Amino acid sequence: MKVIVSKTYEEMCAKAARIIAAQLTLKPDSVLGLATGSTPVGIYKELIRKYEEGRLDFSEVTTVNLDEYVGLSGENDQSYRYFMNHNLFDHVNIPKEYTYVPSGVAEDPEDECENYDLLIQQLGGVDMQLLGIGGNGHIGFNEPADSFAEGTHLTDLTESTIQANSRFFEKDSDVPRRAITMGIGTIMQARKILLVANGESKAKAIYDTLYGPVTPQVPASILRFHPDVTVLVDEAAFKLVAEKE
Ligand code: F6R
Repeated sequence: MKVIVSKTYEEMCAKAARIIAAQLTLKPDSVLGLATGSTPVGIYKELIRKYEEGRLDFSEVTTVNLDEYVGLSGENDQSYRYFMNHNLFDHVNIPKEYTYVPSGVAEDPEDECENYDLLIQQLGGVDMQLLGIGGNGHIGFNEPADSFAEGTHLTDLTESTIQANSRFFEKDSDVPRRAITMGIGTIMQARKILLVANGESKAKAIYDTLYGPVTPQVPASILRFHPDVTVLVDEAAFKLVAEKE
């Protein structure tokens, strides 16, 4: 694993965006795996800026997102489809039909999961997967568990994740309890992975990912077995590792 520590969130985002831009320059028809949440927002802003400056072209790019809440349609402003449109897709020249997010309102969610893995296979796999990390070490919505889930699947969100997400919803009862997420197996098949984390609330998860045992109790720890992972963190998220070194 390559670890890049930045002083600030902005610096971390600029570096992550540069890595993604290099990927798209080298392979304009890349399949990008994307994440939602607060962490990648600054990265998407940087990508939009590069596009507006004429330095980046998304016309041949395909994207597949990690996850979506069950029960929320793409029109719901808390859905991950809405987030992606709003934070990236509406601002660059990517054809919307090349952007994939699992459907949270599929008639048969099990089928939706199976079809999502088939889709990724048909696209030839993910070239570069962007990941955030939960305070509990989750990636996508692969929560701490007794085993690593393979493919895209339905999952119950843990109480800590529901709490973390509740800041985006008016009422606690509105916070979705289930999600569709790529599995650990799906994520591990990406050719390159970028894991980004900022802020002290991620310090323990980053420490455990880099130095703890590889265990499904810290889902991100499996990334140590992937041959091409870059971890981008700010100093706050790196704090516990820096104290150890
Ligand atoms: C989002 C996702 C989640 C987030 C994680 C961190 O698509 O899969 O794993 O990356 O919960 O979220 P933030 O960035 O909001 O701290």
